[in-house]
Amino acid sequence: MSTDPHDLFPAGFFARADESPDDAFYVYDRFVTHIDDRAIATVGRLYRHLGLGGPDRPRVLDLMSSWISHFLDQPEELVALGMNERELQANQQATSHVMHDLNCDPVLPFDDSRFDAAICCVSIDYLVRPIDVVRDLARVVRPGGTVVFTFSNRCFPTKVIRGWLAITEQQRCDLVTRYFELAGGYDQASAVLLTPPGPPGDPLYAVWANVTS
Ligand SMILES: C[S@@+](CC[C@H](N)C(=O)[O-])C[C@H]1O[C@@H](n2cnc3c(N)ncnc32)[C@H](O)[C@@H]1O
Repeated sequence: MSTDPHDLFPAGFFARADESPDDAFYVYDRFVTHIDDRAIATVGRLYRHLGLGGPDRPRVLDLMSSWISHFLDQPEELVALGMNERELQANQQATSHVMHDLNCDPVLPFDDSRFDAAICCVSIDYLVRPIDVVRDLARVVRPGGTVVFTFSNRCFPTKVIRGWLAITEQQRCDLVTRYFELAGGYDQASAVLLTPPGPPGDPLYAVWANVTS
């Protein structure tokens, strides 16, 4: 019997319409915003509320980053990990950046307890081995540190896992919560819709958990 938690999901759940290498897709610069201004502001307020980048959590990893990281308060250290070098170089809040394809290698290129927090904005739906990545985040974020996923309802659909596209927005909160549970190493996750329900505007959901101390 398989011990891989991804095998608990239906066949094809983590497959994508476009299975070509991600570096071919992300080689093109996309200096765009993937959510509207209200959702971006909501992300920034959540980070402030959780104290990310503040005195208790100064070292932050921005996973699946691009040219903006949405902080209202500049973290002392912000490492941006992503797939497009020019976008990462243009990120004014990042203090350093790393190119790394998480779908080729879900192991994060960082030492244990390297960070006080990690964020991942509007990107978890692109991961084909999300539980491995979430598990490794519990290694590179120190005990008591915080890991936060935010997401909306827009995406590059050919690059998103089929399972994500097949479920409702509320079920996506449950799915990310399940990722934390299956990864292990975290306290109970919190999952909320942070924007007012319904249109207008992009919804902004957040699921976060602290690494178990
Ligand atoms: C929708 S954009 C979101 C960018 C940014 N987090 C934001 O809030 O605007 C998706 C990001 O995921 C990154 N990404 C996609 N596939 C990836 C992979 N296999 N490994 C690492 N990063 C990836 C891309 O570089 C891109 O910046």
